[in-house]
Amino acid sequence: MDIEIKDVEHRYQMKTPFERLAIYDVNAVIKEGSYVAVIGHTGSGKSTLLQHLNGLLKPTKGQIRLGGDVLEAGKKNKHLKALRKKVGIVFQFPEHQLFEETILKDISFGPINFGMSREKAEEKAREMLKLVGLDEELSDRSPFELSGGQMRRVAIAGVLAMEPEVLVLDEPTAGLDPRGRKEIMDMFYSLHKQRNLTTILVTHSMEDAAAYADELIVMHKGTVKAKGTPRELFSRKDDIAAFGLDLPETIKFQKRLEETLGITFKAPILTIEEAASEIKALFQEENAL
Ligand SMILES: Nc1ncnc2c1ncn2[C@@H]1O[C@H](COP(=O)(O)OP(=O)(O)OP(=O)(O)O)[C@@H](O)[C@H]1O
Ligand SMILES: [Mg+2]
Repeated sequence: MDIEIKDVEHRYQMKTPFERLAIYDVNAVIKEGSYVAVIGHTGSGKSTLLQHLNGLLKPTKGQIRLGGDVLEAGKKNKHLKALRKKVGIVFQFPEHQLFEETILKDISFGPINFGMSREKAEEKAREMLKLVGLDEELSDRSPFELSGGQMRRVAIAGVLAMEPEVLVLDEPTAGLDPRGRKEIMDMFYSLHKQRNLTTILVTHSMEDAAAYADELIVMHKGTVKAKGTPRELFSRKDDIAAFGLDLPETIKFQKRLEETLGITFKAPILTIEEAASEIKALFQEENAL
């Protein structure tokens, strides 16, 4: 299903002395099967926007269309439960939401809650445990005996067990070590590809945004200020700086190389693999002369 966000505003604690406008005039279309990264300075409204995608927060103006469902300011949506199944959200530090005595129970909680038999749900849970790279033998252990990174994987398995069509990830690798980060990001990417999962990632890592996303949405001070492919957006260096964002390391390296060698590459270099092949091409040109 495609997702259309139209003129969305959200005010926290509306009509109280603490009212706070968090996002406004937000417009975006997220196509089924795409991988979109939402980037922006801290406090720009990324998490607020994401929580609208499964009705956890309601717009105070505007509407969100998810396939045939509409979430609209001032209206009740009868299909909220079904929607929560279709749109899975991995919050920041999702391991804080683990609560069952065993890992298996934790992962199967959602499916059982949505009417799956315990037997089926546990089978699903074991499958998900493997999918997130954990040993099936852990299933009867308490989630609280695990390392932080393993707990994170259990929490992610719990979201995946619902078989969502859309996966929303709010800084899913915050607090993990570099290796754990890469493993988790690669796992989300292969899920995205294999299961045609629409993936929406909030990240402060410009490298991840550049490497994985088809499209970027830049939030700044509560609204969308720019959209485009990573290559388009990261070419607009001045705008990126004005939004309080950094460039990916590969592009900084590219700029330095261009200055040092007095050359210009055709396009922004988004990954280490791309950097390697561009440099290889340079050597080959040199040898051909
Ligand atoms: N529960 C809340 N009550 C009142 N204001 C809030 C609440 N949550 C967030 N805000 C405010 O809404 C604005 C947007 O916050 P949000 O958490 O969506 O930003 P963010 O882009 O996710 O930031 P970060 O990168 O730090 O996670 C901020 O000004 C924040 O202070
Ligand atoms: Mg946030």
